[in-house]
Amino acid sequence: MRRRYTVADLSVLTRDEASRFVPRGDGDPQNDVVLAWELLYRLEPELYDRLASVERLHPGVIGWLPREVDRIAEVGAGTGRLTMELVERGRQVVAVEPALPLRRILRRKLTAAGHGDRVRVVRGFFDRLPLPDDFADLVVACSAFTPSPGHGGETGLAEMERVCRPGGCVAIIWPNHLAWLTARGYRHVSFPGPMSVDFGSHEEAVELAEIFYPRAAGEVRRRGWRKVPFEVLGLNPPRDLAYKVLVQ
Ligand SMILES: C[S@@+](CC[C@H](N)C(=O)[O-])C[C@H]1O[C@@H](n2cnc3c(N)ncnc32)[C@H](O)[C@@H]1O
Repeated sequence: MRRRYTVADLSVLTRDEASRFVPRGDGDPQNDVVLAWELLYRLEPELYDRLASVERLHPGVIGWLPREVDRIAEVGAGTGRLTMELVERGRQVVAVEPALPLRRILRRKLTAAGHGDRVRVVRGFFDRLPLPDDFADLVVACSAFTPSPGHGGETGLAEMERVCRPGGCVAIIWPNHLAWLTARGYRHVSFPGPMSVDFGSHEEAVELAEIFYPRAAGEVRRRGWRKVPFEVLGLNPPRDLAYKVLVQ
């Protein structure tokens, strides 16, 4: 990933995106893998979607989410790994996503699944959510929120709490920095058991590992694997979440 894009590719970012992802204007995707992922979302969204589709969340995480709530807001919805699970749980679902190519894929999936009217897919960022105070019963982000200001941070967490109604729940799924969240009153839940990335074929496992997990690609090829344990890929499995129920 670090070698996939160059500084010239940064021109794909809108001004709003650049102000968050390259705040000092001197970013280089070859030295900043987080920035390289932002370019992936915009330059090769279908490739990203192939990866996200096989990195499935632990069923315990899905089962933990509240059912039959009125409104749900998801931030950083991407191509809908979690959104597609939220559709049946809320009367109204709003999916906030900054990257236009990912919003397009998400809309396409929702339409294909017959949920085009049920979910509103909107542009927005953690630090300025396009939603009113106390809007949702559940405000959630999956593999999107981090403590860094461009991807959430203090302002982003405060925004998620602002749009959550009193008594509602803010949940960060597959968090990258649990201690940061627990220090802010979030409780940790983890679901046990072995977890693997279930690629469509061995060939796909090798192809995607070479791009996203190059250190594991040799082993994936040698062993003929289609299903690859998250640990082999060097990836923390998507079995954790952190949540806070807001005081009434
Ligand atoms: C790894 S993807 C996860 C997408 C999706 N939630 C999933 O689990 O498949 C991270 C997502 O966060 C979004 N994102 C990045 N920075 C953001 C920001 N400042 N505000 C909101 N979303 C952001 C990206 O556009 C991308 O869709």
